[in-house]
Amino acid sequence: MAKILCVGIATLDIINEVQYYPEEDNEIRILAQDKRRGGNATNTAAVLSQLGHQCDWAGTLVNELDSQTILSDLDSHQISYEHCHFLEQGKIPTSYITLSKESGSRTISHYRDLPEYSFEDFKHINLSVYDWIHFEGRNVCETQKMMNWCKQEYPSIPLSVEIEKKRDLIQSLIEPADIVLFSKQYALSLANTSAQKFCRQLSACYLDKTFICAWGDAGAGGSFNQKYHWQDALNIKPVDTLAAGDVFNAGIIDQQIKHQSLNQCIQFACQLAGKKCTIKGIKDLPLSISLPINNNEK
Ligand code: FRU
Repeated sequence: MAKILCVGIATLDIINEVQYYPEEDNEIRILAQDKRRGGNATNTAAVLSQLGHQCDWAGTLVNELDSQTILSDLDSHQISYEHCHFLEQGKIPTSYITLSKESGSRTISHYRDLPEYSFEDFKHINLSVYDWIHFEGRNVCETQKMMNWCKQEYPSIPLSVEIEKKRDLIQSLIEPADIVLFSKQYALSLANTSAQKFCRQLSACYLDKTFICAWGDAGAGGSFNQKYHWQDALNIKPVDTLAAGDVFNAGIIDQQIKHQSLNQCIQFACQLAGKKCTIKGIKDLPLSISLPINNNEK
């Protein structure tokens, strides 16, 4: 069991399940509606807590009714929010999600009116109690300050960062990280047509860092010290793909903490994320993972 701090956001997810994704200017019936806590950092924390770790979350919260859904979910996973910044005004970031029954795809419209977590808040945390710190790659300037601070004041704590979306200067978060978790969306935004190509290029520049890139329903690739691994995704019929990437990241962090090989880390994370897609939400994840499944090292 490790003590992990996750820095990033919590959201209220309002999920409308529909038979198929509608065309613009159309009208369709919602089959089922659900309200859950979401947000990449807290999703990853919720999975890590199911994997037996003790997680804290650092982010911003606002004193309003919708925060209750978030707080009670965090409580149910024993995730502490003592390092959060509570505001009196604003709105909990809210995602309106259209979940297609036919394909399992999730289309997210996100609304936020809340300041981001700042370095000013972060620097007061006693980080010496943590075995691992995970950052969501957002609010780049402040996140970079936080990560640099960790490296300067607590150099022995491993740092992971998720780089999911193209944002100004986001590549500056690579330098202070030990493990960088990229999305397919980000890799494609830089015209990389495969996880392999992307991770290999990065690995040649940064020998001491681990790069992982999830490639949706194809699988995931990763590299360390110029060695590259690829893992096929599980062959499943997806029911709900919302937060699959956050689950994948938790799988990688869990296995890295357990000092598993890169190969095994990616296998484990692919299976965990694949199994997640067969259930709705991320509570009570099926955690029985059987390794190895077919993979290759290049
Ligand atoms: C899934 C998710 C949702 C949230 C959205 C925020 O990865 O964290 O729970 O609404 O992304 O971007």
